[in-house]
Amino acid sequence: MVFLNGEFIEKNQAHISVMDRGFLFGDGVYEVIPVYNNKIFRLNAHLLRLQASLNSIKIKNPYNPQKWSDILNKLLSFCNNQEQSIYLQISRGVSSKRKHSFNDLAPTVYIESNPLQSKTKQALKAGFSAITQPDIRWHRCDIKSTSLLANIMYSQQAKEKNVEEVILYRGNQVTEGATSNVFIIKNGTLFTHPISTHILPGITRDLVLESARKCHIPIKKTSFSINELNTADELWISSSTREIMPITQVDGKLINRGNIGNAWSCVYDYYQNLKNA
Ligand code: PDD
Repeated sequence: MVFLNGEFIEKNQAHISVMDRGFLFGDGVYEVIPVYNNKIFRLNAHLLRLQASLNSIKIKNPYNPQKWSDILNKLLSFCNNQEQSIYLQISRGVSSKRKHSFNDLAPTVYIESNPLQSKTKQALKAGFSAITQPDIRWHRCDIKSTSLLANIMYSQQAKEKNVEEVILYRGNQVTEGATSNVFIIKNGTLFTHPISTHILPGITRDLVLESARKCHIPIKKTSFSINELNTADELWISSSTREIMPITQVDGKLINRGNIGNAWSCVYDYYQNLKNA
């Protein structure tokens, strides 16, 4: 079952108009929200970010937080798996003419949920590879927009090169991954790009920082260079579907000789506690 504009229906019965601005322009925003033990994880934080995205592009939020929670929980009641990944998107709606500017429209709301298979700690300890690329995206990466052409191009490159992620840089400063936030550990301190219009304010990013504090790891929300990334003691990426992944190889070169660090292990464990709390 999926949710479309107020109704729970079979996915193959869900249709939208070709005049939907989500289809014509990618004029919409979205959220990806994990569910653990049948509980929606950090729903409020996701709803706050959704509201910020909607405000930025002047779409009125069709529902209040309680209504969102009711809709999402009802959708989950149709799912068997206890671990899910909810995909929720709101487009500006259907207009009569294809015109870039817009009038007030009734937004199109689409939600689906799919089983989520978290990787075990043992599997994550194998380490993952990434490549680096200049960040060609626009200057409003803080909006979780469904217009994802650049991110799609990077992710396809990652697939073709058989790596987990593409890590992006502006000038020589690392911003984030194509679909994740990026962290390094250098001499015991955790560095990650500060919140700005050049990154998505990841919900998992906040949880990584919360876990790092519990592990008594000093945190610097300052950007770091590609050179600092290459010589880091540890390198991680985070997202709602991947949690916290150690990256041990970048552009074919090993990070810290391919070793998984203690900081990751501690932060991973605290993150699991938060999930199961
Ligand atoms: N992507 N940065 C970008 C560009 C992202 O696309 C994502 C997540 C993140 C991490 O955000 P969060 O921790 O809130 O998931 C950072 C999702 C999972 C996606 O597009 O499917």
